[in-house]
Amino acid sequence: VDQTYIMVKPDGVQRGLVGEIISRFERKGFKLTGLKLFQCPKELAEEHYKDLKGKPFYPTLIDYITSGPVVCMVWEGVGVVASARKLIGSTNPLQAEPGTIRGDLAVQTGRNVVHGSDSPENGKREAALWFKEGELCEWTPAQAPWLME
Ligand code: GTP
Ligand code: MG
Repeated sequence: VDQTYIMVKPDGVQRGLVGEIISRFERKGFKLTGLKLFQCPKELAEEHYKDLKGKPFYPTLIDYITSGPVVCMVWEGVGVVASARKLIGSTNPLQAEPGTIRGDLAVQTGRNVVHGSDSPENGKREAALWFKEGELCEWTPAQAPWLME
């Protein structure tokens, strides 16, 4: 089953949007298997965003992500990676559709409140990067038979 790494970025935490953002994934029906508040060290931010190294905004991106605590999450479910990207909306919040997290709650690309993995492979890679073995929880939500036939 697919896994995605979702992270409330420091602006989302500072703005008090943690509950709102978690709620959107929870209400959709995905399964939360990992959750923590965490001050990201620079080395981890660089590893997470290594594909963007060399971009003009890369140094400010690393400063942004390490500027305060983030909320790290892993969500599981069939099709969760692409669906979470839809719930999050376009990278530039001014172009994100109303109803999406960025469309409803943000205005700037450099302050776009949330991260979501962009492929199932990166979902697994990022879950393993941000969480230690034993921090993720395998469980069966009581509502499971009411979500999936
Ligand atoms: P993530 O879910 O955070 O990975 O966003 P994304 O997949 O929609 O975008 P991408 O992976 O291309 O970029 C990662 C993050 O870098 C974005 O979410 C922004 O926070 C930041 N970023 C991307 N492009 C720009 C830019 O042009 N300017 C600034 N300031 N930040 C950018
Ligand atoms: Mg990305």
